[in-house]
Amino acid sequence: METDFLVIGSGVAGLTYALKMAKHFPEKQVVVITKTSADETNTKYAQGGIAGVWDDEKDSYDKHIEDTLIAGDGLCNEKIVEIVVKEGPERIKEIIEYGARFDKDESGEYSLGKEGGHSENRILHHKDVTGLEIERALLSELDKLPNINLIKHCFVIDIITQHHLGYLVTKSTTDITCYGVYVLNVNSNQVEKITSKITLLATGGNGQVYRTTTNPRIATGDGVAMVYRAKGRIENMEFIQFHPTALFEPGVSPSFLITEAVRGDGGILRNKNGEAFMEHYDHRKDLAPRDIVARAIDNEMKKNGTEHVYLDCTHMDQQKFIHHFPNIYEKCLSIGIDVSKQFIPVAPAAHYSCGGIKTDEMGRTSIKHLYACGECASTGLHGANRLASNSLLEAMVFGERCFLDSLELIETINKENNLPAELPDWKAKGTTEPKEMILITQTRKELEQIMSDYVGIVRTDVRLTRAMRRLDLLYEETEELYRATKVSPQLCELRNLITVGYLIVKGAEFRKESRGLHYNTDHLDKSDLLQNIVL
Ligand code: FAD
Ligand code: SIN
Repeated sequence: METDFLVIGSGVAGLTYALKMAKHFPEKQVVVITKTSADETNTKYAQGGIAGVWDDEKDSYDKHIEDTLIAGDGLCNEKIVEIVVKEGPERIKEIIEYGARFDKDESGEYSLGKEGGHSENRILHHKDVTGLEIERALLSELDKLPNINLIKHCFVIDIITQHHLGYLVTKSTTDITCYGVYVLNVNSNQVEKITSKITLLATGGNGQVYRTTTNPRIATGDGVAMVYRAKGRIENMEFIQFHPTALFEPGVSPSFLITEAVRGDGGILRNKNGEAFMEHYDHRKDLAPRDIVARAIDNEMKKNGTEHVYLDCTHMDQQKFIHHFPNIYEKCLSIGIDVSKQFIPVAPAAHYSCGGIKTDEMGRTSIKHLYACGECASTGLHGANRLASNSLLEAMVFGERCFLDSLELIETINKENNLPAELPDWKAKGTTEPKEMILITQTRKELEQIMSDYVGIVRTDVRLTRAMRRLDLLYEETEELYRATKVSPQLCELRNLITVGYLIVKGAEFRKESRGLHYNTDHLDKSDLLQNIVL
């Protein structure tokens, strides 16, 4: 297959870009690839909502910028923060035009929620299933455009660069160029080649590298691993955000989220003795930024020897609770918890990757003709810790920016007309059918365990060293298996997750300080040198 515009990922980032491109070029075909079904994305599970300055009287761009910078703990790129905050409301209006419905109050105005780290109510939401509504609206808009070819159940293995043409490509190569991708068609079990002039990676997060995560199965950091293998730049991978309040349900994966908006509406965290403990940790109490709340919970759990704390909603207006959080209400009831009478057991879970593929203000990566957008990208918005509900916003703002830049790039590519005539087919020669799935599943369990036990909310130098040694072994064994075996999504995901784990540990080892989401008890202070860690 050959195309001008190739999009990997059908979440908010990929679809925002694809829709704009298809509308701009009705005569061209835009190809969107997704590894499972169209809507199985992190986007679909977003609960709390999308942050944006909406109420000009009470709120302002300056306040949203300030809140984002405070959460980011010194590492946000201020220019990018300003871009996202100021362009965000326009992008939100666009998805409303696509048909996304956000809750309104009795007066017909949007009902704006509040979450940790926000100084004002500015979060638009659709009950507690905002992501589902956004994904629905985007996919229904896509249905109206015959020139978008959405290909499901296709797993992108690697991006194609000069390396595949036989040239030596290293980190110092300045003109690494993306010519397309190799993709495993899961139905036919064949690896196909897609040649593209411009490729956008919108592959989402990597929460699956941890044992407990709010991220669905698809979140295996594939885009980040592909770019790293292609010698592109990755940054700030050590900043993994743990959401403070995932429902504690042993053995259930992914973990069900109890949105921060519940605390925004008055929910109180309590320890096993029923004590509201957040006042001992931060003056903003239950609505402090996530890094602070997650660490406080972790500390309470360790102090009291418990596996969870509680979220108390018993004092809240129950009719309002059911109206705003019907999904959470039903989920809790389904496991025997009546939130009007019982506390909800909650524990932190890996939730969001603040770092990722390094991009500039137009979403360009360090690899030519390759953009990245959404959770897989590191734009500089989040710094050391993402402000709640800024992620959907970032994906939409950069979806537009990547689109605008692609319009110029495609003209240049067409003018220069120097793309390689023929790219090699995938080489499966010498590989055999996998004999034992246990070699993949067991390694994945080990990886999750190493990452959760040594590279979680609280880190130490010794834990990081141990993690790296163990990851080295998993890497060697898995690469050996990869060379000998026919590719499968399971094997590719394992390989990608090991790479992601390595990048998180490497970033954490380099960062000899505690900042934002990276907390190392051997380096509790902040360094004077503000820097991004680029790998
Ligand atoms: P995704 O929506 O994750 O889409 C990734 C796409 O890439 C998928 O289509 C997947 O199939 C595809 N893909 C990945 N790898 C491959 C491959 N190898 N081959 C082919 N396709 C591939 N953020 C907020 O701002 N507000 C919230 O309220 C909020 N709540 C959240 C609640 C939960 C439970 C979770 C998990 C996240 C939440 N977030 C929230 C974060 C936010 O949802 C995500 O960061 C955002 O949706 C990511 O969008 P994306 O388009 O980058 O990636
Ligand atoms: C939540 O609803 O608590 C998640 C919001 C987010 O991840 O931004």
